[in-house]
Amino acid sequence: MALTYFKRFRMEIDVAGRVLVPPPPQGYRFVPWDRSLLGAHAEVKYRSFRHEIDAAVFPCFCDLSGCYRLMEEIVYRKDFLPECTWLAARVDAGGQVQEYCGTVQGVREHGRLGAVQNLGIAPEHRGRSIGTGLLLRALQGFRKQGLRRVYLEVTADNFGAVRLYRRLGFKVVKTTYRAVEAAVS
Ligand SMILES: CC(C)(COP(=O)(O)OP(=O)(O)OC[C@H]1O[C@@H](n2cnc3c(N)ncnc32)[C@H](O)[C@@H]1OP(=O)(O)O)[C@@H](O)C(=O)NCCC(=O)NCCS
Repeated sequence: MALTYFKRFRMEIDVAGRVLVPPPPQGYRFVPWDRSLLGAHAEVKYRSFRHEIDAAVFPCFCDLSGCYRLMEEIVYRKDFLPECTWLAARVDAGGQVQEYCGTVQGVREHGRLGAVQNLGIAPEHRGRSIGTGLLLRALQGFRKQGLRRVYLEVTADNFGAVRLYRRLGFKVVKTTYRAVEAAVS
């Protein structure tokens, strides 16, 4: 086995001010957390992450059951925040859900800090502001919970995600390295 080191950023934002949440793009809807949607979150997480750099950093993203377990770990935490947990859905003209295509979750840490977990948009739905919309909804949820400081962690080479976070006002506050064991062929 060989160790590979992935550079990661911890990024933070202050959400003391009002968070302006844009409406979803046409043909999409944002869906708040409900216990019955755990499987949908897991499935979208899998589709969003399986071919991305984070699947190398966190192998649980490589299969659906891993994503399901990760979702269970998040939502059964006592500090899970349903208000910060959203799905994006593609809808038909009547507003009926055709397909879920984006996910984000939130938890509270150390009583006073919000933590964004696993923002993911299925590849065919990217670049339509759905990731931005989901993240802003999560930030609004933290603010409603009285949390002013929110953080997330992102792999430094995930350039698109880092750019999105910077655009919304997140700033890098710490750089870490995550060691991952990989089989040598
Ligand atoms: C990062 C991610 C959530 C962005 O979702 P999105 O819905 O495309 O985001 P938006 O449309 O709101 O914003 C697009 C931004 O994301 C970036 N982006 C990343 N991948 C993209 C893609 N395949 N297509 C279009 N834009 C992409 C663009 O650079 C764009 O930034 P810009 O507006 O500054 O140019 C999405 O690419 C994704 O799910 N990636 C894989 C999972 C992942 O790495 N998540 C982040 C974990 S920390």
